[in-house]
Parts: sequence; structure tokens; C-alpha cells
Amino acid sequence: MNRLSATLYDRTMAGVEAAGLATWRDELLADLEGRVVEVGAGTGANLDHYPPGLCELVLTEPDPRMRARLHARLARSPRDATVLDAPAERLPYPDGYFDAAVSTLVLCSVPDPAAALGELHRVLRPGGSLLVIEHVRGAPGTWSERWQRLVEPLWSHVAGNCHLTRDTARSLAGAGFETAGLRATNLERAPAVIRPAIRGIVSRST
Ligand SMILES: C[S@@+](CC[C@H](N)C(=O)[O-])C[C@H]1O[C@@H](n2cnc3c(N)ncnc32)[C@H](O)[C@@H]1O
Repeated sequence: MNRLSATLYDRTMAGVEAAGLATWRDELLADLEGRVVEVGAGTGANLDHYPPGLCELVLTEPDPRMRARLHARLARSPRDATVLDAPAERLPYPDGYFDAAVSTLVLCSVPDPAAALGELHRVLRPGGSLLVIEHVRGAPGTWSERWQRLVEPLWSHVAGNCHLTRDTARSLAGAGFETAGLRATNLERAPAVIRPAIRGIVSRST
């Protein structure tokens, strides 16, 4: 993430948060318990949405500029968490360590989504949950999808490797997650190219 994107991230997302994303975060995270890992925690937008009383909360963020903002937000928060410099593709925890994992607006940016999902599957206990909010490819053949394809090379260059045409629901299923709990939706007030989205809870099959 370049310096400008990291600096402006919270400000550029403020309208989207107010239009519904913050409510989604609340709904998604409200019932979490046990040991939880969040990948690509960014500036800590989920931090205030976690319920109190988790056994352990690990926030991973490989980008130093985003991680500095995450540390600053954590210092102002009543939540307790461990911040880790680790990519989602390599999580330094044993198999089955976590009860739940969280990925919000991250699988668009990771260099290797299959490796990241494989790693999340590995560190979750059997039956554990992966909670996701991700923007995704528009329906094939629509103007939305064509526009995403056109814009993607430039967009990913200026927006921290953010890809517009990933079929993340399919990748989740391919990685061995049970995806019946996913819902297709729209990120209101987001730029049109990142409006198609999915949200929900998928579980690690045994
Ligand atoms: C659009 S931001 C989302 C931040 C936060 N999750 C949120 O909901 O606002 C994407 C984040 O993914 C992080 N990221 C990029 N590649 C990653 C990887 N391989 N593993 C984990 N996080 C990664 C970026 O550094 C950035 O902080």
C-alpha cells in the first residue's frame, strides 16, 4: 500500500462504512468467541466491532504503513489484541489453532488467494468459521464485469494490488469451505467497480 492510500484509507471508506459496511461488520462479528485471527486487518476497521471477552485476538497486517495505523487504533481501543507482521499465506500458528478467522476486503489484494485460503483452512479447527466481507467480480457478461476487466490493471496498480475480478465465493468452495452461508450483496456508496460483494460465514468442513 503506498503512503497516500494508507493515509487516506479511513477517509475514503467513511461513506461506505456509513452506508452499511459498519453495520455489516457489527452483524458479522457479534457472536464471535474463542481464539480469533483476522488477516489483513489494515487500519483496524473491525476492531471496535469485536465482542468483548474473546480468549485471544490476533490481527495480522503485512503492510508497515497500515500496521502503524493499526497499532495506533489499538492503543486507543479497549480491545486487547496481538498485532502480527504476517501475510495470510503464511500464518505462524499450528493446525486447528483458531476457532474463527476474519477476512474483510482482503482476498482481493492478497498475491495468492488459493494459498491464503489454504492457510486459513489449516489454522481453523474442524467446524471453525471464516467470516468474510469481500468485493468480487460482477456477474459474468454484465457491464459491471466488463468495466471491472477494463479498469483492473490500473486499479490494482494504484490501489495496493486490489483485484476487481476475483470469484472469491468459488475460491472459498475450492479451498474446502462450506459456503451456503454466503450472501451476494452490494457495497453501497462504493465506486461501481468494487460494489458487487459477498458477505457471510463459511465453515471449515472436517
Ligand atoms: C482494502 S484493505 C482492508 C483492510 C481491513 N481488512 C478492512 O476491512 O478495512 C486490504 C488489506 O489487505 C492487506 N493485505 C495485502 N496483502 C495481504 C496478504 N498477503 N496477507 C494479508 N493481508 C494482506 C493490505 O495490506 C491491506 O491492509
